Amino acid sequence: MSKIRQAEPLFALTNKIRGSVGGIKHKIMVLSGKGGVGKSFISSMLSLALAERNYRVSIMDADIHGSSIPTLLGLHDARHYADEGGILPVEGPLGVKVVAINLMLDSPDLPVVWRGPLKSRAIIELLAKVKWPEGDFLILDLPPGTGDEAITIVQSIKDLTGAIIVTAPNILSEVIVSKAVNFVVKNNVRLLGIVENMSYFKCPESGREYSILGKSTGEELARKYNTRLLARIPLDPLIATALEEGVPYLLAYPEGEAAKAIRSLAGEVLRILQQ
Ligand SMILES: Nc1ncnc2c1ncn2[C@@H]1O[C@H](COP(=O)(O)OP(=O)(O)OP(=O)(O)O)[C@@H](O)[C@H]1O
Ligand SMILES: [Mg+2]
Repeated sequence: MSKIRQAEPLFALTNKIRGSVGGIKHKIMVLSGKGGVGKSFISSMLSLALAERNYRVSIMDADIHGSSIPTLLGLHDARHYADEGGILPVEGPLGVKVVAINLMLDSPDLPVVWRGPLKSRAIIELLAKVKWPEGDFLILDLPPGTGDEAITIVQSIKDLTGAIIVTAPNILSEVIVSKAVNFVVKNNVRLLGIVENMSYFKCPESGREYSILGKSTGEELARKYNTRLLARIPLDPLIATALEEGVPYLLAYPEGEAAKAIRSLAGEVLRILQQ
């Protein structure tokens, strides 16, 4: 008679996480109080910018409903495999190791219909059961807001290095930032700083900068919340072109305005971590 396999209890999985990601030096979560501000774009490109400097980087897509890291890294058709030691990360560009629920589905276009407890469980399972390689960075890309996924991550990775909060210049940004800052502070996570994405558009002909989405408030917000503005990333139409081409923007357009800003963000993160 076949035996029904019992699911591993949650506490047992959570206990495994310290060991499973223990060989990765810095674990950084990227979050925002709001959707669509560029968290996934920044997480994925920051991973590549760190890998360009020869750091060993892993990235986990913790956005179960809106998984976009595989697409941003040109890995839409890749799939996870497992061996007896656990789930194997997908090898991405520049050796970045990628982990995403989407890469376990029969088709990446299938919607995931899990609710809160199941989503938390999925994140814990991934953290515990992936064969995370030794490395320098684990970048965690979160879904919008400070809900189940964000709570699960701060509770299950006890030695998070810090958090990066992403915002964009518009009238809601203050509320967005304050929610995210409060979440980070309340959970005793180190706030590495704020990134203002879609900050401005630089005209390639005149070199003039235009505030398309509204006045940049990044500096002001960083001061108000007693943190630093890590970078202002401009709007770059080549990001959409790279997505259409199915190639990672930073590698396809290394001289793009946003690419330069992402590299400077990587430099800033490294500088802060050395302090
Ligand atoms: N600086 C930029 N210039 C132009 N397009 C951008 C820029 N940053 C991000 N984008 C584009 O904006 C869209 C939203 O970005 P992204 O998916 O990274 O946001 P998000 O905050 O992760 O969204 P969600 O909250 O849904 O997870 C994407 O199509 C992305 O390619
Ligand atoms: Mg996203």
